[in-house]
Amino acid sequence: PRKIILDCDPGHDDAIAMLLAHGNPDVDLVAVTTVVGNQTLEKVTRNALSVARIANITGVPFAAGCPRPLVREVETAPDIHGESGIDGPVMPEPTLALDERHAVDLIIDTVMAHEPGEITIVPTAGLTNIALAARKEPRIVERVREVVLMGGGYHTGNWSPVAEFNIKIDPEAAHIVFNESWPVTMVGLDLTHQALATPEVVERIAKVGTKPAVFVNELLDFFGAMYLEAQGFDAPPVHDPCAVAYVIDPDVMTVRKAPVDIELTGTLTLGMTVTDFRAPAPDDCHTQVAVDLDHQRFWDLIVDALERIGDV
Ligand code: BDR
Ligand code: CA
Repeated sequence: PRKIILDCDPGHDDAIAMLLAHGNPDVDLVAVTTVVGNQTLEKVTRNALSVARIANITGVPFAAGCPRPLVREVETAPDIHGESGIDGPVMPEPTLALDERHAVDLIIDTVMAHEPGEITIVPTAGLTNIALAARKEPRIVERVREVVLMGGGYHTGNWSPVAEFNIKIDPEAAHIVFNESWPVTMVGLDLTHQALATPEVVERIAKVGTKPAVFVNELLDFFGAMYLEAQGFDAPPVHDPCAVAYVIDPDVMTVRKAPVDIELTGTLTLGMTVTDFRAPAPDDCHTQVAVDLDHQRFWDLIVDALERIGDV
């Protein structure tokens, strides 16, 4: 199985990404790190630990990372994720203790303790921790197999007309991550807006019938209501597990090689993931963007992971 570090800000869809990574046998979750984003660092870290309890994730280190972006002020997303960052389900008191290390150090230690090419980093939040890790220990850049991140989009934004939340809240960090030489796959809104939790999906998950499956439907219920109200979606786009799904099965989506850079000075376009589709992509292009999702295959992975997790 592919070893992954999940760097997240749970977050309804981050929680589902955790469950997919935990339940699928083709990825091995070796660390979970948290960063300010959907809510404060304190809240998202607690949420991550509560999700660990719900899915009985044990033996995996969890570490808290950065409480604010590199340059900008903290900007959270209560309109989408509520005051707790994961409103809707009743979240149990965490039982796991946090690793004592800062997330940046846990990321560095984990990458350096493995062979080159063994660790894939999957960020599903602002890129603050990942950028700092690359700056603190530049050798990780060569050593990481690839970075597969949820963020950005080449067509449309959600936090501005052209910028997506995870990139917009810490554009300087995103600039660092996209400009390092490691392979980066941008699983952006172009892709994740296809990962809709339709009524058919909700029904499939309900049929699994376990407590973690009920938890997922409680998440989707709240997430769906917020997305309808805030952005006019009939069914909520479940962004973050798409990045995990790509690591599990690259055939779950099509990708296209293209240079991507982050706008840092635009008055209207701050945090835009500017994607250059002028063909052909240069030979040394290290970035690619996700284009089309196989909806059936994606939700099959989620249902399968829930079935494997079972009742805990
Ligand atoms: C991203 O922003 C967060 O609110 C979600 O968890 C996801 O990572 C979507 O723009
Ligand atoms: Ca997220």
